[in-house]
Amino acid sequence: MLHFLLYLLMAIGPRACEKEWSGVWFPQSPENKNKSLTDSETSRSNDTNQTLVNHKRIPMGVENEKCDDAHKNLGIDFDPYDIRHSTVYMCLDNRRDYRGDYNMEPLITVYDIPDAYVALHKCMNTSIQYAERIPTFGTHRPLWPRYGEYKYVPPQRWVHNSEHGAVIALYHPCANKHQIEELKLIVKSCLYRHIITPSDLPSKDRPFAIVAWGALLEFSVLQRDVVENFIRTYALKGPEQISRDGQYDHLLLAPAQVVSTIDDDVLCPKHRKRD
Ligand SMILES: *[C@@H]1O[C@H](CO)[C@@H](O)[C@H](O)[C@H]1NC(C)=O
Ligand SMILES: *[C@@H]1O[C@H](CO)[C@@H](O)[C@H](O)[C@H]1NC(C)=O
Ligand SMILES: *[C@@H]1O[C@H](CO)[C@@H](O)[C@H](O)[C@H]1NC(C)=O
Repeated sequence: MLHFLLYLLMAIGPRACEKEWSGVWFPQSPENKNKSLTDSETSRSNDTNQTLVNHKRIPMGVENEKCDDAHKNLGIDFDPYDIRHSTVYMCLDNRRDYRGDYNMEPLITVYDIPDAYVALHKCMNTSIQYAERIPTFGTHRPLWPRYGEYKYVPPQRWVHNSEHGAVIALYHPCANKHQIEELKLIVKSCLYRHIITPSDLPSKDRPFAIVAWGALLEFSVLQRDVVENFIRTYALKGPEQISRDGQYDHLLLAPAQVVSTIDDDVLCPKHRKRD
């Protein structure tokens, strides 16, 4: 039996050190925290390039034809009719599975996001890019996906679910087919608040990834314990804890089923250790 070490890859300073946060503050830095803003108020904050920009917090979960109705202008994130976008769910790499490597240990990356950080919502007329290869927080679309398994969901959508405490299981389309099916079963038996989608973001070396708010697990070979321990530790930690389902269901294959309760009171109950 092989044992693997989990590496804490990086942590952007201890939680108390909000001053070390290098990301963009929104709506404002903690010094101004007491002056709380409502969703529709306009606030000013410094962009990373130190220019003053006006931000408007667009309300979440409200269908707005002009901003985001979960149907129109989806192609800005992912266009199913654009052949160049199809590599996100089709393996074009000689049609061969990426063989898992047992010497490639799982990696956990933790981002210490300040409590006062609030992610921005952007309408479908504006593109969203992420600084990290696999984002675990940041700007996203106002409408979030319904929970479940998809043919494909773009990160600009699922980052919103992670903010609500969900986990997102990503597999490279060239990953091992048997392990993909195993991973789906594990995630579906752990919690209701999940999104499962192929993605070209995981690397060839570690073609599987699990995202939670501020935390990322990447692995080469599926191990149930590693996945379940990550979910038990990092799921349900997003800053906006709600289990309400989303409105976006483009390419949804199978809606999520409740596992313990609708609020996921017990994570991965099937293999819970009895003390
Ligand atoms: C933005 O940054 C500049 C320069 O760092 C600073 O002088 C200014 O007070 C900042 N404004 C806000 C609203 O934080
Ligand atoms: C800084 O941000 C402003 C507003 O978003 C943008 O107009 C400007 O081009 C940016 N400048 C640089 C140097 O990136
Ligand atoms: C995008 O659409 C929203 C909603 O209609 C609007 O408020 C915003 O100004 C638009 N942004 C751009 C860059 O066109």
